[in-house]
Amino acid sequence: MMLDNELHAAREATGTAAKDGAQAYYDSYTASLADPDRFWGEQARRLTWISPPTRIKNTSFEKGNVSIKWYEDGTLNVSANCIDRHVATNPDKVAIIWEADNPKAPSRHITYRELLEETCRISNVLKAHGVKKGDRVVIYMPMIPETAFAMLACARIGAIHSVVFGGFSPDSLANRINDSDAKVVITADFAPRGGKTTPLKSNADAALLHCSDKVKCMVIRHTGGQIHWTPGRDIDLTDEMRKAPSYCSYAEIGAEDPLFILYTSGSTGKPKGVVHTSGGYLAYASLTHEVCFDFQPDDIWWCTADVGWVTGHSYIVYGPLANGATVLMFEGIPTWPDAGRFWDVVDKHKVTHFHSAPTAIRSLMAQGPEWVDGHDLSSLKMLGTVGEPINPEAWNWYHQHVGKGKLPVIDAYWQTETGGHLICPHPYGTPLKPGSATTPFWGIKPVVVDAATGQVQEDMGTEGVLCIADSWPGQARTVWGDHARFEDTYFSQYPGLYFTGDGCRRDEDGYYWITGRVDDVLNVSGHRMGTAEIESALVAHECVAEAAVVGFPHDIKGQGIYAYVSLMRGVEPTEELRKQLETWVRQEIGPIAKPDLIQFAPGLPKTRSGKIMRRILRKIAENDHGTLGDISTLADPGVVDDLIANRMNRG
Ligand code: WT7
Repeated sequence: MMLDNELHAAREATGTAAKDGAQAYYDSYTASLADPDRFWGEQARRLTWISPPTRIKNTSFEKGNVSIKWYEDGTLNVSANCIDRHVATNPDKVAIIWEADNPKAPSRHITYRELLEETCRISNVLKAHGVKKGDRVVIYMPMIPETAFAMLACARIGAIHSVVFGGFSPDSLANRINDSDAKVVITADFAPRGGKTTPLKSNADAALLHCSDKVKCMVIRHTGGQIHWTPGRDIDLTDEMRKAPSYCSYAEIGAEDPLFILYTSGSTGKPKGVVHTSGGYLAYASLTHEVCFDFQPDDIWWCTADVGWVTGHSYIVYGPLANGATVLMFEGIPTWPDAGRFWDVVDKHKVTHFHSAPTAIRSLMAQGPEWVDGHDLSSLKMLGTVGEPINPEAWNWYHQHVGKGKLPVIDAYWQTETGGHLICPHPYGTPLKPGSATTPFWGIKPVVVDAATGQVQEDMGTEGVLCIADSWPGQARTVWGDHARFEDTYFSQYPGLYFTGDGCRRDEDGYYWITGRVDDVLNVSGHRMGTAEIESALVAHECVAEAAVVGFPHDIKGQGIYAYVSLMRGVEPTEELRKQLETWVRQEIGPIAKPDLIQFAPGLPKTRSGKIMRRILRKIAENDHGTLGDISTLADPGVVDDLIANRMNRG
């Protein structure tokens, strides 16, 4: 636990007086639960509304009738909140500092005035090509300012964007274009990252073969590399932006009109298009960004996530820009050209807030502290971690070597579906415990439920699955085109509660410790992946008869991907085939889904009714086969011996 005097020292050392003392922070929490309408009505004032809301909260978690509305009669424009109002007061303030993958390339500084112009140009191009309010636009881009311009350009005219991570394959991209029925894909020629490049445009070409021929493809020329152009379909966005007017008026958008769709993996079937709307989402993203990080106007904010994930949406684009922040956007990776890159960037741009992920911290920890220790990190005031549980060893290393033993580490627990933080400390108000995301944010009412009985656990010290008892403004509203799936996934297990899919422990002090997913979702390097998705990619290969995928503990990635594969009769299990299957999954889903270990299995452990017993597969993958428990219900207990004998993880 970080002691009070240490916290006090941190406050002194950074010269940041907390805006809100600890007591005031917890008083606000109590107030937020006591009278949500009043509390969130006041919080709405942080946004600039065209027509301010009079109805604040209108939500139901009741199965069959799940409906979530916040600020429903208010109207606003998200892009005007993130840009225009800052241009009016501080046009020359830098909105985005961009640091290229190549450390020798010049960085870019984009002021709020320039942000307005560039965003407006894209809005005008979209409009000229017939994009209207409510139309979907897929954004498949590198980590460059144009990606933020494109998102804000959609928001400006009320088009709904769906950002697809640049590491996804053409097939994954095509699925998302088709599921959202997008009119346009915005992409770039190439995406440099870690000294390599992803051919985004040619991936988009491959994806579009599986899509309606009405879908247009707009291309930013980023590297200037050679690409193929399809006349009539492809649009040179860089060129059209140059010719387009630099102002576009913003549309009046309902608070409950969708802002974006973001696809995320679940335990079953294809990825779900999680829908976030405009007013509540923006209020929540900007509030959490300001309060949980004690964000001040002159701070330089850096979140190392990719804009393709929700963290990039809420804490690179929408939250910080709504707050008028200066945001650093980084195209590269932590370990290229060397393991000092993050710290070079912090020093170069005098970053005050550094927000990253456990997997990045662990990979840097493995390279040794000398990569950090040689840098001047005196600009830093605060550290953040998000995406998966952080092991105390990594927390301590981060705190010690990056935070010099002084800086608060904000462990923020949340999900694509939650829009912003659910559980996280207040930087100067919450005594920290390494590995715990600590206590709930304003308006969040976590409950721990016994998974077996469905009973809500009232005791402080307890363990179970994590649910949330009431709505908050940043919550997702539905799954695109499938509200039944939304209800079924999140509201059917425990009546009246939102089910997070995570296990958790609550200690005697009321601190929450997330223990990881309790469903068939993996968290690999902070990337969420459904085992079902990887299995269906594997069985799509002509040599594969059956596949089962589970996670296993991995030192750097948190979880690794372990695939058990049964081959078609007559197919030989060779090393070459193993490589082929790895490449296959990369192509089907993307590099992040490549199995770390593939075990060829003549048979999988199944119950007599044919259900694969994953519990057993997980144990073997964890190299913990001494305690398999009862296997007498298996149709053929003999398969287990073979699986153990040929297991791939012997570490
Ligand atoms: C899952 C959500 C929104 C953050 C980026 C990932 C895990 C996230 C933490 C944390 C422990 C965490 C959970 C959650 N997770 N943050 N601070 N401590 N676990 O968003 O892809 O929707 O994944 O990430 O398991 O359910 P996502």
